[in-house]
Amino acid sequence: MATAYEVVLYGASGYTGKLTAWKLAERGIPFIAAGRNKERLAEEMAKVPELAGHDYQCVALEHETGALTELFKGKKAVINIVGPFMQLGRPVVEASLAAGCHYFDTTGETDWMSLLKRTYGPSFAAKDLALCPANSYMWTEGNLAAEIALQTPGIDTLDMLYLGDSEVSVASTMSFLRMCTQPQFYLRNNELVQWPWATSYQVRVPGEHVLLNALPWSGGGEPIWYEDDPRVRNCQTLVSFRNQERFNGVVGLLKKFEQECRQLDAARQEEVTNEWGKAVTQVEPARENPDVNRCTLSCQGRGNTNSVSVVLRGNSPYAQTGVLGAEAVRRVLRGQLHATGFVSPSQAFGARNLVAALAEEGYLAYEVKHV
Ligand SMILES: NC(=O)c1ccc[n+]([C@@H]2O[C@H](COP(=O)([O-])OP(=O)(O)OC[C@H]3O[C@@H](n4cnc5c(N)ncnc54)[C@H](OP(=O)(O)O)[C@@H]3O)[C@@H](O)[C@H]2O)c1
Repeated sequence: MATAYEVVLYGASGYTGKLTAWKLAERGIPFIAAGRNKERLAEEMAKVPELAGHDYQCVALEHETGALTELFKGKKAVINIVGPFMQLGRPVVEASLAAGCHYFDTTGETDWMSLLKRTYGPSFAAKDLALCPANSYMWTEGNLAAEIALQTPGIDTLDMLYLGDSEVSVASTMSFLRMCTQPQFYLRNNELVQWPWATSYQVRVPGEHVLLNALPWSGGGEPIWYEDDPRVRNCQTLVSFRNQERFNGVVGLLKKFEQECRQLDAARQEEVTNEWGKAVTQVEPARENPDVNRCTLSCQGRGNTNSVSVVLRGNSPYAQTGVLGAEAVRRVLRGQLHATGFVSPSQAFGARNLVAALAEEGYLAYEVKHV
């Protein structure tokens, strides 16, 4: 009997698409591998060893709301991995809504998260569907650590730091360059405040001696998740990479953007960051190696007279993104979705459940200290 597929992986042919396919296969979830080019989809899926014998089907279609809606009809959930999302995401969200599918994506772009929240959140809520962007390493790790920190009574301030040490994909580079040149916000006394343009900050990663340069990296998703949360008054996120030479190269590009491109119109700015992104990254990375590609997430929580430190020590952020996508649809299919409308991954599935899913596969462990 032919499979009635319930899951669409859109953008399956890319780096993160293949990692998500791997994690869907491990969970025994049949899926449609969708994208714009059938031969490329088949070729790329053939590179995922875990898909041997797994039930999936490659479907090529136009990147357009009508065609996407037809494909999504009758399915339960869509994992969208086609970015930059501010450039390419709208037809996918609109099709998910029209077809009645829960929507998950891997964005790191906080302007995209805000747009979804304002423009589509109420319509997804009205249809009892989840609208869950950034169901990915950035900004889910911070969301998970924040929820653990907020379990300490009185904590209302979240100071977050990501440290990554992985090679990046082509679309990731285009995405982070565009998002670092858009307005970036942190939450101070319940108000979103804009970070200064092209400015880096020195940070200390817990358990390390050398100071590193960090950037707001689009401001992080956490200020968006916690903007209307009565538990949280202040929330800020910074991001650093172990390879500081390359990281400082990004800081240099942001300064160049301020000098040469800030006055350009919005469409031209997007073209410039795409051009720079394609020039900086031309090759798809290999699968991450946990011995090399380690990451740290630090969430320092404060209240009036107390504090808590939550540190996630982990590895392989891109593979973690695959786990989060696959785990989300596994939980949807099992009836374990806790909330609908515009939701963070923690609201959708419970922070402890997602931490456990990542920990079970050796992708992180967490430490909580009341300091
Ligand atoms: N927040 C996080 O932690 C996190 C983690 C991982 C990824 N991401 C984000 O996820 C996105 C994808 O990343 P990736 O690593 O998979 O990048 P990638 O390897 O460059 O793949 C990009 C994917 O998008 C598809 N695509 C590009 N332009 C398209 C278009 N016009 N129409 C239809 N499909 C199109 C590509 O299809 P073709 O194969 O046909 O070119 C490919 O499947 C990026 O925005 C990245 O920033 C975020």
